[in-house]
Amino acid sequence: MTQETDTTKQDVLAGRNILLSVTGGIAAYKSCSIVTALRKRGASVRVVMTENATRFVSPMTFSALSGAPVQWNMWAERTDEALSHISLQDYADAMLVCPATANVISKVACGIADDLMTAAIMAATYPVGFAPAMNAHMWEKPAVQENVALLRQRGYWFVGPEYGRLASGAVGGGRLSGQSALLACIERMLVEEKPRDIDLTGCRVLITGGPTREFMDPVRFLGNPSSGKMGFALADAAASSGAQVTLVSGAPASAGEALGFGGGFEVVEVTSAAEMLEAVRNRLDDVDVFIGAAAVADYSFVQTSAEKLKKSAETLHVELQKTPDIIRSVSESPQRPTIVVGFAAESHDVLANAEGKLKAKGLDLIVANSLLEPGSGFGTDTNRVTVLGADGFRSDLPLMSKYAVAVAVLEEVARRLEKSSR
Ligand SMILES: Cc1cc2nc3c(=O)[nH]c(=O)nc-3n(C[C@H](O)[C@H](O)[C@H](O)COP(=O)(O)O)c2cc1C
Repeated sequence: MTQETDTTKQDVLAGRNILLSVTGGIAAYKSCSIVTALRKRGASVRVVMTENATRFVSPMTFSALSGAPVQWNMWAERTDEALSHISLQDYADAMLVCPATANVISKVACGIADDLMTAAIMAATYPVGFAPAMNAHMWEKPAVQENVALLRQRGYWFVGPEYGRLASGAVGGGRLSGQSALLACIERMLVEEKPRDIDLTGCRVLITGGPTREFMDPVRFLGNPSSGKMGFALADAAASSGAQVTLVSGAPASAGEALGFGGGFEVVEVTSAAEMLEAVRNRLDDVDVFIGAAAVADYSFVQTSAEKLKKSAETLHVELQKTPDIIRSVSESPQRPTIVVGFAAESHDVLANAEGKLKAKGLDLIVANSLLEPGSGFGTDTNRVTVLGADGFRSDLPLMSKYAVAVAVLEEVARRLEKSSR
């Protein structure tokens, strides 16, 4: 995370030129949806394929999805639309090799440039990332691991692979990262100068996410439109960085799975603020990082009914009571985690209100966002946030996917954990 980055209300992907390089792995078909997702966010996409990739997905499919010619043959006749490995430099703001085969990773590590894609990577003046996907045994081979380490050392970006169900049906490491993580990698390539790894191996991370519902009777409740996306994104990104993650969520685990998150973390489903507090308290032992991203209802009903209330009176007066302050209770607990992070979604005076919460609740970091800004707030896929630290730290992030925001927050958390352990 860079300090004092430029603030822009435009989506970080909008108007950017992305090269998607597809290699010959079984996950090549998943890149089709990446093209669509990038274009939906306002990016222009051109697809380069290896010749072997064309055996898995037809170039015609990518051409139709990207709205641009697809290239794989370095020796094809030049047309006005076709770009050479050199002229791709003028086009691209970033390239993601997705999926990246063991073969292409190893070729690039050796400096081989015998087709359009590898020649373009060799000539690249833009950031290049790899999203490896392969059989678990292939991924674990020293040749692949050493070549990945070499490429990381040379400043190439990597996203994944993930642990999970592979094409063969076996479960292991080597599955292509999910769409959110892939897009977040491209976003980070566009805003950060160089790749920084977030290593949370051995850390216990407890996260709250989603809404709470305060029921008055079996069918009526006070709540809010939070989808839980931010909590799921944080949990997924923390788990992908090696942490042991528990998400206490007001949104059901099935909502996270439907959004493409999950697998590597535990979800504890709760309904009310009181249940959320209890679930958090019961799990605070040995937690290193607590992140409170839930949209907790501020009030609950004093009187509740086990039976559905009849609609009889013209007006209804109800008494409300404040719900518990979960983040404050974690921050003031004798088992306080090393780092406590809060979220502040505000409709006005966003930074002043967030700063007030940061101090009043004794937090280390607070992630502030406006509920009224287009592309931010409840239910959106994106968010534009400012991260504030109790020590005066401030980072204004551009409009990014919630997953990319999660990664940026975790990057700062990891930096602070490392500092505190020195
Ligand atoms: C059905 C099938 C699936 C394959 N899946 C993968 C894969 O997921 N990852 C991988 O690294 N190689 C995979 N391979 C092997 C590659 O296709 C092979 O190494 C090829 O040379 C890669 O070419 P490229 O890197 O130039 O695209 C697969 C091969 C076949 C026949």
